[in-house]
Amino acid sequence: MSHQLLAGKRGIIFGALDEQSIAWKVAERCVEAGASITLTNAPVAMRMGKIQELGEKLNAQIIPADATSLEDLENLFTQSIEILGGKIDFVLHSIGMSVNVRKGKPYTDLNYEWMQKTMDISAISFHKVMQTGMKLDAISEWGSVIGLTYIAAQRIFPDYSEMAEAKSMLESIGRSFGYHYGIAKKVRVNTISQSPTVTTAGSGIKGFSDFFSYADKMSPLGNASADACADYCVVMFSDLTRMVTMQNLYHDGGFSNMGMSPALLEE
Ligand SMILES: NC(=O)c1ccc[n+]([C@@H]2O[C@H](COP(=O)([O-])OP(=O)(O)OC[C@H]3O[C@@H](n4cnc5c(N)ncnc54)[C@H](O)[C@@H]3O)[C@@H](O)[C@H]2O)c1
Repeated sequence: MSHQLLAGKRGIIFGALDEQSIAWKVAERCVEAGASITLTNAPVAMRMGKIQELGEKLNAQIIPADATSLEDLENLFTQSIEILGGKIDFVLHSIGMSVNVRKGKPYTDLNYEWMQKTMDISAISFHKVMQTGMKLDAISEWGSVIGLTYIAAQRIFPDYSEMAEAKSMLESIGRSFGYHYGIAKKVRVNTISQSPTVTTAGSGIKGFSDFFSYADKMSPLGNASADACADYCVVMFSDLTRMVTMQNLYHDGGFSNMGMSPALLEE
C-alpha cells in the first residue's frame, strides 16, 4: 500500500494473539502505512499465541503487559517511547475477555467476582491505558486512541452476556476520557463498533457461526472483515480525521441501521 498515511507516526497495538486477531491485521496495515509500532499482549498470550512471529515480520518489539496492571502499562509506555524514539501518536485497545462466558455461566446466574474481572480486562483497562498515557504525558498532541467494541452495547444479543455491559462501559469511557484528553492535549478518543469477526474472542461466543451468517445477510454490504477494520483504524490514526473524537463509530456494513431484511425473511 503506497498511501503512507501514517509515515513517521509511532503506535502501540494491544491484542494481537494470532493471525485472525483484528489487532494483527491493524498492526500489519499500520506498518504498511509507514508507522513504527510496538506490540503488546498479556504475558500469558506470549506463550499461547504467535505474537513473536508478527513482531519478527513487522520488525516490531514486543512488550508484555497485562492491561489491568498500572505498573505494566507504565513500563509499556516508557519502553515504547524509548524504542520508537518519541511520544506515541496512536494506540489500539483490542482487548476483550469474559470470564463468565468462558466458564459457561449463564447471564442470569453470573459469578460476580468473575464479572469484575471481565470489566477490569475488557473495559476499565481502556481507562487505565489512557490514564497512564496522560500521567506520563506519553501521547502526542492530536494523537488518536481507539478501542474496539460491539453493538451488543446498545442492543440485546443474548449470548453476548456480561460482555454487553463491558462494551457499554468501554464506549462510555471513550466518551468521558475523550473529553478530558481533548481539553488537556487535543488527543482524540473513539470506539469502533465492528461486525462479528472470526477470531479467538469472537468464536468464544455461543452460536457464533450462525450469528455471523445472520449478520452477514442483515448487512447490505455484508459483515466487515478484520482487514477492512484495519483500514478504518489506519484512517482514524491518520491526520485526515483530526476532528473526530468521543464517537462510537459503526464499522458493520450497515447492520446497525437495519430493521428488517427481505433476504433473511425469505429463508
Ligand atoms: N471478533 C468479533 O466478532 C468482534 C466484534 C466486535 C468487536 N470485537 C472486539 O475486538 C477486540 C479484539 O478481539 P478479537 O476478536 O481480535 O479477538 P482476539 O482473541 O484475537 O483478541 C483479544 C485479545 O485480548 C487479549 N487480552 C485478554 N486479556 C488481556 C489482558 N489482561 N491484558 C492484555 N490483553 C489481554 C488477548 O490476549 C487477545 O490478544 C475485542 O475488544 C473484541 O471484543 C470483536
